[in-house]
Formats: sequence, C-alpha cells, structure tokens
Amino acid sequence: MRNSLAMGSSTLLAMSSGLGNLHPSLRHAWHPLCRSSEVTSEPRSFRLLNENYVAYRLDDGAVRVFRDLCPHRRAPLSLGACEGATLRCAYHGWVFDANGVCVEIPALGEGATLSSRARLEGPAGVGESHDMVFISPEAPRTPLPSIAFAEDPAFERGDLPVMVTRASAGLLADNFLDMAHFPFVHAGTFGAGEAREVPNYAVTRDGYTFVAAYEHEFANREDPGVSEGLRPLIQRRRLTYRYTAPFHLELAIEFLDAGGTNVIGFFLVPVDDETVRIYSSLWRDDLGGSPQRMREAIDFEIAVVEEDLRLQSRFEILELPLDITAEVHTRADKTTVELRRILADFVAEVPNS
Ligand code: FES
Ligand SMILES: [Fe+2]
Repeated sequence: MRNSLAMGSSTLLAMSSGLGNLHPSLRHAWHPLCRSSEVTSEPRSFRLLNENYVAYRLDDGAVRVFRDLCPHRRAPLSLGACEGATLRCAYHGWVFDANGVCVEIPALGEGATLSSRARLEGPAGVGESHDMVFISPEAPRTPLPSIAFAEDPAFERGDLPVMVTRASAGLLADNFLDMAHFPFVHAGTFGAGEAREVPNYAVTRDGYTFVAAYEHEFANREDPGVSEGLRPLIQRRRLTYRYTAPFHLELAIEFLDAGGTNVIGFFLVPVDDETVRIYSSLWRDDLGGSPQRMREAIDFEIAVVEEDLRLQSRFEILELPLDITAEVHTRADKTTVELRRILADFVAEVPNS
C-alpha cells in the first residue's frame, strides 16, 4: 500500500504538464549552440540538452557539429585536432572525414577495412542565423529564428557576454515576454518611472511564432530634445514582441516622437535540468556608430538582465506550466499565455514526447 502511494505521487510528478529544460520534445527544435565566431579550426565543446557537442570549422568555412564522443572509446573529440577537412581523435588517433565517417585507424595499419559503425553521430539539423550556430538534435519542427532588423544596414549590433544561470528556459522566456514586471523587477534600472498598468494589446500567432505590439505614452527623460524645447516630455513609444518557439525572443522599442529603434534579442539554451545559457544581442540605429555608446548600452542591458535573473534563478520549480488552468492569468498576460499555448501544441505534436 505504501508502495502504491509512493508510486502514485511520483507518477503524478512525471505526468505533470510542465516543460522542464530536458523535456524530450525540445530535441525537435532549433537551439543556439554557440556564436559563429566561437567556431574555428580548433575543435570546441558546447553543452545543450544534457549532451556535449563538438563544433569546428573546415578549411572552406563550413561548420561541422557532432556529439563530442568518439565511437571507439567515447573520448571527447573536442580534445582532438583538425587536419584539413578531417578531425583526429586525441586518444587513439582515429580520423573522421567531413561527414563524420572514419577514414583511418592507425592501430590497424594502412589498407585496413574499417567498420561502417566507426562514424560520428551528428544532430539532425545544423544552421547559421545572424552569426550564431543553431542545431536541432532531431528533425526540427520549429523555424530557425531570424531577426528582421539584423539585415538592416542602419542598425549596429552589440553582443552581451554569454550568461549562464540556474533557471528554466521556459520560465525565462516567460519573463522576457512579460509586460507587467518592469516597475517592480527593474526599479533599479529603467522601471521606476514605468506605468504599472498594461494597456490592452493583441497577440497574432503564426504557427510556432507570434507577434504582439502596443503603443503607449512614457516620460522620455533621455531625449535631449525635451530640454531644448523641441519635444514634450511625454512621448509615444511602440513595443513589439516577436517570439519563435521554443525560446527565442525579440523586443523592438520604437521611439515614435524622438526617433530611433532599440532591438533586443534573447536566445535561451536549455543546458541541463537547471541551467540555461543566454545569448543576447542589441541592434541599435541611434548610437551614431559610437563604440563607447554601444558599450554603455550593453552595460545597461546586462544590469537589466541581472535584475531578471535575481528572481528567475531562485524559482523552486524549474518548469513552465503548460496547463492553462494551473495558474491565474490576467489580460496583461496575453503574451505569456500564448507562449504556453504554443509550447503545449508543440509538445503535443512531437511524437513520443
Ligand atoms: S577513443 Fe577516439 S580513437 Fe579511441
Ligand atoms: Fe525583465
């Protein structure tokens, strides 16, 4: 009887409809593995969904990604070396060609017949998008994320340092889409003067993506045009959130009176059951090419993200609830409700997850 009770509670936990970092469905989606600049002819290991991957670049610039495990004795291939278009394992010197097929086993001498099982295992999808390498361990069911502003020559890009934190990727996505936390979580940076009330807004879904936008008035204390008498203090601002499942987010802030657009992109990597790696970049068209102003913008954004992480790293349950009835929602939460709907559909549509 005691056993069946114990089983009952663990079964309940296993059946909970939350999305943790290692939910099996996430193997069927694109995740950033690293920045493109981190992939060179020196093989390097990156962790994602509890697995290590080795990434390196061939002479012709092509990126190769495989599991960081040699099929011989499972040594980390990232300790090996690139030799032209091949990779040599550091342990017994086996050599693998650009497709991961073993072409040399030194211990067998020249001309030996090599087992067809001597080949590297790779993810189903490898792609590059705005200077990041993305992989999908199994056939991807979500689109590769893209940032429209990234292609616009009027915008300069600045990358935040990669952040690693205890967190749930689903809850962090929830946080970056949330519109009601600014005056509370961000009181130390930009939140103190922000309106507490969230205006009504619409969310438009398209497959595993959505867009939500609203315009509101705010006090633009950073606009020099205010003290010069060119513009009033109270100005209009448009916020546009773009989401791509599972954990890619973009927020564009357009200053409709003073001019200028600030874009922030967040790409969240579920590393293990309680760790997330955050890649974040800014695209700005209002800094006049000044490296100093971009550095200041990056430092400010780091401070903002640290405010978010102070909360997010302390959540007891590191899962995003996908059962809409499990939490209390308001009309201010339309983006984060849509996040749950999209991920619930994604989980339901992926086989055996
Ligand atoms: S473990 Fe790689 S060659 Fe033996
Ligand atoms: Fe925030």
